[in-house]
Amino acid sequence: MKAVLAYSGGLDTTVCIFLLREKYGFDEVVTVTVDIGLPEKELKRAEERGKKYADKHYTVPARKEFVEAIYKLIKANAEYEGYVLGTAMARPIIAEKVAEIALIERADAIAHGCTGKGNDQLRFENVFRQYGFRVIAPVRELNLTREWEIEYAKQHGIDVPATKEKPFSVDENLWSRSIEGGKLEDPSFIPPEEIYEWTKSPKFAPEEPEIVKIDFEKGIPVAVNDRKFDGFELIRYLNELGGRHGIGRTDMIEDRVLGLKARENYEHPAATILINAHRDLEKLVLSRRELKFKKIVEEEWSELVYYGLTNDPLFEALNAFIDKTQERVTGWVKMKLYKGSAMPVARYSPFALYSEELVSFDRVSLDQRLAEGFSAFHGLQGRMYQNLRRKL
Ligand code: ARG
Repeated sequence: MKAVLAYSGGLDTTVCIFLLREKYGFDEVVTVTVDIGLPEKELKRAEERGKKYADKHYTVPARKEFVEAIYKLIKANAEYEGYVLGTAMARPIIAEKVAEIALIERADAIAHGCTGKGNDQLRFENVFRQYGFRVIAPVRELNLTREWEIEYAKQHGIDVPATKEKPFSVDENLWSRSIEGGKLEDPSFIPPEEIYEWTKSPKFAPEEPEIVKIDFEKGIPVAVNDRKFDGFELIRYLNELGGRHGIGRTDMIEDRVLGLKARENYEHPAATILINAHRDLEKLVLSRRELKFKKIVEEEWSELVYYGLTNDPLFEALNAFIDKTQERVTGWVKMKLYKGSAMPVARYSPFALYSEELVSFDRVSLDQRLAEGFSAFHGLQGRMYQNLRRKL
């Protein structure tokens, strides 16, 4: 019997390798680490440990797929309750890659290291089950605690460097870094500076604001300060630049799919800069009614991503709507980065539904006297109602 395991190289998933053999009776465990923009260090560690502890290890590249997914997030101005959805968006991509390996390996089951309290179990398993695989979740099924895992790891000669001291659970990819657990589980606890790795404290950010110009083509960012970038590098660059200015920190209470409220901390400089810029460009280009309706679409879209339901046909339909609106979202936005904020300060598009000529107080091409008739009808029913009420 063979199991394929979605592998991060951390304590949970490393313990899973041994449990799959010992408690579930698998003769062969294949680990799969999917690279959706992991830090080099983490990727290396996963690879080394996978090779050391499992019977076979795969590292599967998926940066391209993840960048494509990030483009979708940008076009949708995606956020769930204020969270930029980095982990959520990555999960179905990871799961697809793991399932592909499971097919190649003719595995009998797919395993993952998620707990029974979070969202990731739902996001992973939705995909694994779609491929018809038996799903195994040792941490959830055996009701494991971190303490127990550390003890078990020791007994099995698994080296788990510094896990006991590592006080937070971190999930990181190109779009966001999430920090949770440990002391942060007390929502009344103020997080120490040390939880942040991508962002400087705004207090120590440069005293001078910096203007950065971002070019969009059909809703997708293509250049920074007139320099063309490939998608992965562009996001990485803005993470660095924004991080230096202390941009993109979130400390929030989040409603997990299961209904549990959780305290979450995030860092996401590029996401904040790009979405603020993209939203601003849309305001210049899209009609009032498009903007209003798109908000509803964005909310629904983001919820599908958060819930791990991107295989729902609704997701495709919403993307079709979004892509249609993005046909004109071409142009640039200048963003002012300053001590934790990323504010649009200038914008241009050849598709702007904006006319300086028409709106200007200084010009006469549209005769303002025409507005008198409009104004006479405006609010008519409200006036009638208020007058009636006075008489009652
Ligand atoms: N709360 C976020 C989400 O559900 C981030 C979860 C982080 N995941 C993790 N395994 N540490 O998408």
